[in-house]
Amino acid sequence: MRTQVAIVGAGPAGLLLGQLLHKAGIDNIILERHTGDYVLSRIRAGIIEQVCIDLMDEAGVGARMHREGLVHGGIDLLFGGRRHRIDMNGLTGGKNVMVYGQTELTRDLMDARREQQLPIVYEALNVAVSDFDTARPRVTYEKDGQKHEIQCDFIAGCDGFHGVCRASAPRSAIREYEKVYPFGWLGLLSETPPVHDELIYANSPRGFALCSMRSHTRSRYYVQVPLTEKVEEWSDDAFWQELKLRLDPEAREKLVTGPSIEKSIAPLRSFVTEPLRFGRMFLAGDAGHIVPPTGAKGLNLAATDVKYLSSAFIEHYREKSDAGLDTYSQRCLSRIWKAERFSWWFTGLMHRFPGEGEIAQKFQEAELDYLVHSRAASTVMAENYVGLPL
Ligand code: FAD
Ligand code: DHB
Repeated sequence: MRTQVAIVGAGPAGLLLGQLLHKAGIDNIILERHTGDYVLSRIRAGIIEQVCIDLMDEAGVGARMHREGLVHGGIDLLFGGRRHRIDMNGLTGGKNVMVYGQTELTRDLMDARREQQLPIVYEALNVAVSDFDTARPRVTYEKDGQKHEIQCDFIAGCDGFHGVCRASAPRSAIREYEKVYPFGWLGLLSETPPVHDELIYANSPRGFALCSMRSHTRSRYYVQVPLTEKVEEWSDDAFWQELKLRLDPEAREKLVTGPSIEKSIAPLRSFVTEPLRFGRMFLAGDAGHIVPPTGAKGLNLAATDVKYLSSAFIEHYREKSDAGLDTYSQRCLSRIWKAERFSWWFTGLMHRFPGEGEIAQKFQEAELDYLVHSRAASTVMAENYVGLPL
């Protein structure tokens, strides 16, 4: 088999890249380790920035997103028992974010790929990438017990944090930066109306909590938990009880509880790989970097990488110029590090860190108080939250 770009991974990064390349007339094949249903069952991001909205439109798959997505112009920060609104829209000259689940965005991209009958191999096992330091890279995999080989011009590693592409880069050519946080997020999805019409990020003495949503009838809530916790040991009742203890009286009163549709624990990590290019192999999305989820930057960073990578491939084929490919790492990393910094800062501001004691909470509350009362500080937060300019 031969293609122009072999894409490893059918998460949002791989699917979006495939669709944008197809629209530009560039052949591509996507290889995914799991089934499509499994990919859709992973409940992850909920908030998308303008860069991601624009790319979905450019890919021609934005119609349902515009119909069903909820536009949000602000968030509430809860600390010291009181809520304070940050007016993102007002502070950024009219910018917003949108509530549109990663599951829905992925489903739209999968549907488009199927309707156009574009090649995608689910349950592709033992994917291996090689010869990307030559002009003829290869990707091999097994499907239904048969070995297959794809010859290509380029490999796009969109295979997430545990993927094979980054792991195949020569150790001497790669530098990795990592911080692992001493807690995780226990998340619960329920078919219940959200407690508030915007998101609530809560700093409480019992730890961080987040009230998010997927629609007017579906809610997503998170509570900070120690890494030692097991999801099986958290009943729905125990979750709701803990969440309530971290909210303000009004939210506690209004919260509608119900059975969980999904419950899982996600660890928190900051991680960056430098560079993102290894000869003819390029990393995009979680394959190259991870942010702790506080502030919702992960999917949006993946979208930015895909924007730069798709335009670099298009430039290569249409204009015979490699300028975009040559500057890919540098352009992405400049934005990645700013989002990494923001996510690290917001995580530090909102969570309880074991062993840091009550003084740490006092410092946080002082910073939060400054943040919500200083227009300059609120603007810094708002600009970062809605997404820095490209
Ligand atoms: P992934 O979604 O991980 O996709 C990679 C794909 O590659 C997977 O389907 C995987 O099965 C496949 N794969 C892996 N290895 C192989 C292999 N060897 N061969 C073939 N296929 C392979 N981000 C936001 O922007 N906003 C949010 O609100 C937000 N909230 C989040 C909440 C939680 C609880 C979590 C955990 C994450 C959140 N994120 C958020 C982050 C976001 O979900 C990720 O950044 C996003 O999924 C990255 O997309 P990706 O396509 O790069 O990687
Ligand atoms: C969600 C996740 C986040 O990390 C965040 O900052 C906001 C919302 C969510 O899953 O809905």
